[in-house]
Amino acid sequence: MAVRPELQRTGAGSAAVRGVLRAAAGMGERWVVVLGHPDYYPRFGFTRASAHGIRLPVEVPDEAAMALALGADGPLPRGTVRYAAPFGI
Ligand SMILES: CC(C)(COP(=O)(O)OP(=O)(O)OC[C@H]1O[C@@H](n2cnc3c(N)ncnc32)[C@H](O)[C@@H]1OP(=O)(O)O)[C@@H](O)C(=O)NCCC(=O)NCCS
Repeated sequence: MAVRPELQRTGAGSAAVRGVLRAAAGMGERWVVVLGHPDYYPRFGFTRASAHGIRLPVEVPDEAAMALALGADGPLPRGTVRYAAPFGI
């Protein structure tokens, strides 16, 4: 995700993230994992993925992998994220 520099800190990024999370929940998705700035995503409710037993198949700083439950009950599922084929991972 990226917001043009001159438009950053005007709420565009937050609106995009909240919109995507709403859309995902509306499509029946129950959990989201994000690889991003550890100081940015917690404001949307994301917490460290490793604390939930969730890992990525690539080497990343532990705090940069975060997860969120979209109103689902119970714990997030544990395991290793599998990327879609186009990522080539
Ligand atoms: C990260 C990014 C998408 C945020 O978008 P934005 O429209 O500026 O965000 P918002 O206006 O909704 O929110 C601004 C808040 O985010 C914080 N923020 C912005 N970039 C941040 C970063 N890299 N790390 C931590 N916090 C960040 C600001 O300090 C501000 O905090 P405040 O509300 O407490 O003042 C934008 O800064 C960006 O495009 N950065 C360059 C590309 C990038 O690093 N993308 C992230 C890939 S995961």
